[in-house]
Amino acid sequence: MDGGIAAVAIGGAGLLTGSLTRTFGRGGKAAPKQSAAPATGGTATAPAAPAPSVAAASVPVGGSAQVKDPATGDGVYIVQPKAGQYCAFSAVCTHSGCAVDAPKNGQLYCPCHGSRFDAATGAVVNGPAVKPLPRYAVSRNGDKLTLGPQQS
Ligand code: FES
Repeated sequence: MDGGIAAVAIGGAGLLTGSLTRTFGRGGKAAPKQSAAPATGGTATAPAAPAPSVAAASVPVGGSAQVKDPATGDGVYIVQPKAGQYCAFSAVCTHSGCAVDAPKNGQLYCPCHGSRFDAATGAVVNGPAVKPLPRYAVSRNGDKLTLGPQQS
């Protein structure tokens, strides 16, 4: 009885070995290596970061999508205060630099000291901030919204 079980186990191991050999091959001939880096023209300059973009459907009327300013890394809200009207504002409070919350009820609120900004214009609604949120251009191409340069 015991010999029968051992023979089955050895036979199973043989099948497994054969299977692995077929799967991975013998002898270590590696598959051709593909380079992930594209050929460059020999320039030493770093490529410019692509402009961040989001699907227009992710920015409902009164809502927002957050992206990053590729130049500074700061948060930026792309908003749609009215149907078809897209704009973007820095998410950095102009009072002391805290991150403002996403727009709600037409305003962006800063939790640090309570400043409120108009989500359609970036203007100060309530201090202590006195300067509006910096504004960015937004372009729409089909279903895609792309952040443009800072305008103010
Ligand atoms: Fe926003 Fe002070 S940092 S209100």
